Amino acid sequence: MPNLDFAEDFKNYNSGGYMMKDVKTNRRKFLKEAIGAAVGTMSLPYIVPSPALGKAGNVEPSSRITMGFIGVGGMGTNNMRAFLSQPDVQVVAVCDVVKANNEYGHWYKKGWQGPWFGREPARKIVEDHYARKTQSGGRKVCDAYNDFRDLLGRDDIDAVCITTPDHWHAVPVLMAAAAGKHIYCEKPMSLTVAEGRAMVDGVRRCGVIFQTGTQRRSSQRFRFICELVRNGRIGRLKKVTTPIGANNKQAPPKDWQPMPVPDWLDYDMWLGPAPWAPYHKDRCLYTFRFGLDYSGGQTTNLGAHSIDIAQWANGTDDTGPIEVEDLGGEFPTDGLFTTATKVHFRARYANDVELICKTDEGGPLRFEGTEGWIQVKDDELTCYPESLMTSVIGPNETHLYQSDDHHRNFIDCIKVHRDTAAPVEIGHRSVTICHLGNIAMTLKRRLLWDPEKERFVNSEQANRMLWRSMRSPWHL
Ligand SMILES: NC(=O)c1ccc[n+]([C@@H]2O[C@H](COP(=O)([O-])OP(=O)(O)OC[C@H]3O[C@@H](n4cnc5c(N)ncnc54)[C@H](O)[C@@H]3O)[C@@H](O)[C@H]2O)c1
Repeated sequence: MPNLDFAEDFKNYNSGGYMMKDVKTNRRKFLKEAIGAAVGTMSLPYIVPSPALGKAGNVEPSSRITMGFIGVGGMGTNNMRAFLSQPDVQVVAVCDVVKANNEYGHWYKKGWQGPWFGREPARKIVEDHYARKTQSGGRKVCDAYNDFRDLLGRDDIDAVCITTPDHWHAVPVLMAAAAGKHIYCEKPMSLTVAEGRAMVDGVRRCGVIFQTGTQRRSSQRFRFICELVRNGRIGRLKKVTTPIGANNKQAPPKDWQPMPVPDWLDYDMWLGPAPWAPYHKDRCLYTFRFGLDYSGGQTTNLGAHSIDIAQWANGTDDTGPIEVEDLGGEFPTDGLFTTATKVHFRARYANDVELICKTDEGGPLRFEGTEGWIQVKDDELTCYPESLMTSVIGPNETHLYQSDDHHRNFIDCIKVHRDTAAPVEIGHRSVTICHLGNIAMTLKRRLLWDPEKERFVNSEQANRMLWRSMRSPWHL
């Protein structure tokens, strides 16, 4: 199991987000989450001969997917463990600009003993896993790289999992696609709208399979809610409220001082396409979420989950709102942390559905329609009318994409070459709304948006915020 206590949005890890109490016993089966359903037999290391393996020999080599992991910090290690547990996945390489560190303790809690993250701890996890399975005595089966281009250059890798900070999603995704690798990329998919569109185009052009790490798309619970909304069980959808958790880390003092770069970190490569800036531990490793050069803050970090469900329920996966307006978002005026401290914006769709996104720790994700409402709050689903809880979606009604395990879904889709639960356009469209919200909150105004052209209609200043230049030599 992943470390659920690790960080705010890890709550969502592979459980599809909030747990719902099954208020009716006969709903239990329908709403039950299938966590790690595919965990069964073991993998076959590609250099370990089959006779050394027990049950793994049953897995045909031709059906094995070889994977490399780019970014093996907190979530990357969780992703790697999830793929390691797939019987037909072979992890052959990891990559991180951190060799090994347990620096997370400085913000996590006193007395933090680990775990250690980085490419060497990740390699050890992989090799221990295969050594345990094969009694091969720790034979080398996994390579560890500092530079992701070395990993992408290998022609024996079918797929990559990219779990780098948000400013480091677009470039490796485009390079991986060009190298013909299938891609599992963490949410929020992009740092800017223009990056996201380039990622959609690149992935499509190269014909590779893509999964965004928005694992609520593989939750029976969220699918059930979205199917209720899509099939008119609350009448015509009028309003969606998407809560955003508060910033969960204390900013360093305003007079923070640069720190020496630790020897376990390739800091220039960590910054990558972001502007050069002096090192401070709170700039990197998890807390990058609070720097606008690396992330859109909780707006994109958590909005990528909750707004994605709003998009799914509203049936707007391939489009977006037509208007976005600040309702009182707040940004710090100085200091190392620059992302919104209070998120509050409104978006309106062409079908007149209103989306309110706001900082509301533990608040409900709520759908209101002309004839009822449905919400998830504090791990509990409630609705009006209550009978919705036992509603069954009929065979002739709208049934949404079915996936119960996000990582498994990615592997299955590679094998049959079909779209995943959260393909690139969906990942792009959901985080686009988060980006639009950040822009509206920054400019403090109502902006009109053309979701076809992906341009603002009434502000060139806002249009200039749809992309950012990258630090040389990085470019899209
Ligand atoms: N789906 C989810 O629920 C979920 C949960 C947590 C995080 N995430 C996402 O995962 C991503 C990473 O977040 P995290 O919390 O794991 O951060 P993290 O800082 O713990 O891990 C990121 C890792 O990427 C490494 N890295 C940075 N630049 C690199 C490069 N050029 N090449 C290789 N490695 C590089 C860092 O050294 C670090 O080890 C973010 O986009 C975040 O939004 C998703």
